[in-house]
Amino acid sequence: MNILRRGRLSIEPDEDIMRFTSSMKADQRIFNADIEVDRAHVVMLREQDIISADDCSAILSGLDRIKREGISALDTSYEDVHIALEARLIELAGEDTGGRMHSARSRNDEVATCIRLSLREELIDLMEEVHDLITALLDTATEHHETIMPGYTHTQHAQPTTLAHHLLAHANAYIRDIARIKGAYERTNRNPLGAAAFASTGFPVNRKRTTELLGFDSAIENSMDSVSTRDFMIESMSCYANLMISLSRLAEELILWSSSEFDFIELDDRYSSTSSIMPQKKNPDIAELVRAKTGTVIGALMSVLMICKAIPYSYNRDLQEATPHLWRATDTVRSSVRMACGIIRTMKIKKENMEHASGIGFMTATELADTIVRSTGIPFRTAHHIVGSSAKAGKAPSLADLDRLSSEITGRKLSDMGLSEENVKEALDPAENIRKRAVTGGPAPEETRRQIAVLKEGLVHIENDIKLIHKKIDTASGELERTCQRYS
Ligand code: ARG
Repeated sequence: MNILRRGRLSIEPDEDIMRFTSSMKADQRIFNADIEVDRAHVVMLREQDIISADDCSAILSGLDRIKREGISALDTSYEDVHIALEARLIELAGEDTGGRMHSARSRNDEVATCIRLSLREELIDLMEEVHDLITALLDTATEHHETIMPGYTHTQHAQPTTLAHHLLAHANAYIRDIARIKGAYERTNRNPLGAAAFASTGFPVNRKRTTELLGFDSAIENSMDSVSTRDFMIESMSCYANLMISLSRLAEELILWSSSEFDFIELDDRYSSTSSIMPQKKNPDIAELVRAKTGTVIGALMSVLMICKAIPYSYNRDLQEATPHLWRATDTVRSSVRMACGIIRTMKIKKENMEHASGIGFMTATELADTIVRSTGIPFRTAHHIVGSSAKAGKAPSLADLDRLSSEITGRKLSDMGLSEENVKEALDPAENIRKRAVTGGPAPEETRRQIAVLKEGLVHIENDIKLIHKKIDTASGELERTCQRYS
């Protein structure tokens, strides 16, 4: 007999209807959280004298057994893990006892609490994984402060830079990703329990106590908001989307750089595939999949946004449909970060090819124009005109070339206004270009060293934040464990 439907409803749904309706499969993700939520709720019910000591003890041991048996032992004909678990408890402890667990609660506040508990673990792990990726980027950058490479705009050779500078650009994006995830964590780690269906409950529940036992930072203020909102999900997935966009750009570059045209890196065999027909092929499939999975994650975010749009308050079953997208996106983003980290850690960098490519395409033109401005005092726009005209020849100009063009354009020779052979030579040297760009944020080696130091400080802050988060959660779960022992 179905403990949920036996009262109001008389006809059982057929299998097709149940498959359509049930969240049992996706609920695998919240089974452990559901047990914790049940335990905290039951402990609180006992402390508020809403249930007896004997009932509390019997329910807690029933929950222990259900935890050991696992979700696969639950009756899958129920529509979700919450009711299946309660049915199993009633089977074990009898309805007179097991039937008291759901006092002062609804599946609406229960599921929201379970999702938040499970998601917070994922967000912490994700922060740690992004931290590892940043560390990999910094370790590689540390070896390449002097490795000159072409910098690009519009995928065209633009100005010389260094590999360190380039990798640090990516690292800075990931530091911001962690900060965003931490913001999402703060708004996820709040307690909806006690909201019941939406209007709270007439039982004297203690929301502060379940907040403490479950390691939440605070209870959600409004009970209707508690069960209705999935904005924490949308926010987390928006962080994922941003992070995946960053990863897709890194992946794209790694794919380009490993092509014969660039030949800047060779990916490690373990992060490569080959062709079933072309025996020579070494393909960057892992990076390509990171690039592709960006679409998967953003698609999941779009699904959740559309599902949540215009749902009237408070709980509607629509919300169940959002959750699997969250887990799929979570798994995808976490594994993508790990793949990117592994690729960076294992790739071989072809320093000489990067350096060679830096001599192609007159990338020192900007520095030449700047040098002309500094040594002659003519306006930058005029220098841009002269150097731009010289670039049509397809190679870097000599002082004589520049003088000829300058005479045509301004009526005066640059050499008469203070530009020397030595100035031109220095401006055309890529290494010298980089040395000159020592302003904050630039590619000069002393500056990229400083940038690494700043990023490392950022990583230490993140480590400390994560430590505090772990500590808080561990303290709470220790307290819950001890309290359950005491009441068992
Ligand atoms: N499986 C449901 C979900 O994920 C749990 C809440 C069901 N509540 C309800 N009133 N039908 O949203």
